[in-house]
Amino acid sequence: MPVITCIDDLKRLHRRRTPRMFYDYAESGSWTEQTFRENTSDFEKIHLRQRVAIDMTGRSTASKMIGQDVSMPVGLAPVGLTGMQSADGEIKAARAAEKFGVPFTLSTLSICSIEDVAAHTEKPFWMQVYTLKDDDFMQRLFDRAKAAKCSAAVITVDLQLLGQRHKDIKNGLSAPPKLTAKSVADMMTKVRWGLGMLGTKRRNFGNVIGHAKGVTDGSSLATWTAEAFDQALDWDRIRQFRKMWDGPLIIKGIMDPRDALEALNVGADAIIVSNHGGRQLDGALSSIRVLPGILDTVGDKIEVHLDSGIRSGQDVLKALAMGAKGTYIGRAYVNGLGAMGEAGVTKALEVIHKELDVSMGLCGRRDVTSLDRDILMVPEAFEGRWQ
Ligand code: GLV
Repeated sequence: MPVITCIDDLKRLHRRRTPRMFYDYAESGSWTEQTFRENTSDFEKIHLRQRVAIDMTGRSTASKMIGQDVSMPVGLAPVGLTGMQSADGEIKAARAAEKFGVPFTLSTLSICSIEDVAAHTEKPFWMQVYTLKDDDFMQRLFDRAKAAKCSAAVITVDLQLLGQRHKDIKNGLSAPPKLTAKSVADMMTKVRWGLGMLGTKRRNFGNVIGHAKGVTDGSSLATWTAEAFDQALDWDRIRQFRKMWDGPLIIKGIMDPRDALEALNVGADAIIVSNHGGRQLDGALSSIRVLPGILDTVGDKIEVHLDSGIRSGQDVLKALAMGAKGTYIGRAYVNGLGAMGEAGVTKALEVIHKELDVSMGLCGRRDVTSLDRDILMVPEAFEGRWQ
């Protein structure tokens, strides 16, 4: 058993143990992957200020996200097809998250359904919602989330159209995987994964199949997003969704202060600064770079969270010190899941927690809720000067 000390260790194992099409699905950005790369490389441009001879005992990473207690402000982001990385993957990830005390967000595009995850977990999870044209589907999705006692809805607003990820097309991505000579040859080398999949009945989009009308090929993400997603989405429509869901609401996919103001006006409880992990608009800035401008506009009026690019506890520390009240990991936990199932997700959370806790201490701070920019060394004009 290899010794796991960092997320990269989990990523290597994930690559070895999971069929190529699903590893590639997670590890892709759109088109040239410029934004995907810059999401992580921009974190590296920010440095941490080392302080010494300051009492570092009694540190705490506990905080709140939308008023809910978290053991660290790091949620599990919604990730499509998580149940293809490992059999029943959403249930495994949700269980790891609840034991760790962080929120788990279930994707609309999950393999395990809302009801399935609720039946196999104790604590409420968050439900990510895609904006489809079909009003009945939308109302039912919110109703199902409510019946499952989800404690927040996370509406993703940056996927009216699907950004192209070359590898998904080349690999013929689908759930369940189509059996071609290439995919079968690959799956034969992933024995543990295959046995897991043979042992579960959850192999297609559990929230959609049998629920959404007008979907002709439920196995293909690209086909059904093109058919079912609402390209005409606007803020009035999002206001209708606000009426369909009276619980805590988070709007995910904000990259511009004007859109942050719109989300505030809709009555959201939090926004997530996110470029969808670099999977949508290739050429967009990294999320950490746009965070300060968004905080300047709405930071004192609404809780601002961030995802896209976080692979370590140091990244979490930087985002929090910049002013984010919460952060999310997607690929980092999926690497754990594909590597070692539920234990791998727990491992990913432990790795990130330790990195956050120790790095915070080495900056001379003890409490994750009272960080500020003084611990950061941010290059001049980090946000960029644009015309
Ligand atoms: C869906 O959310 C995706 O990014 O693939």
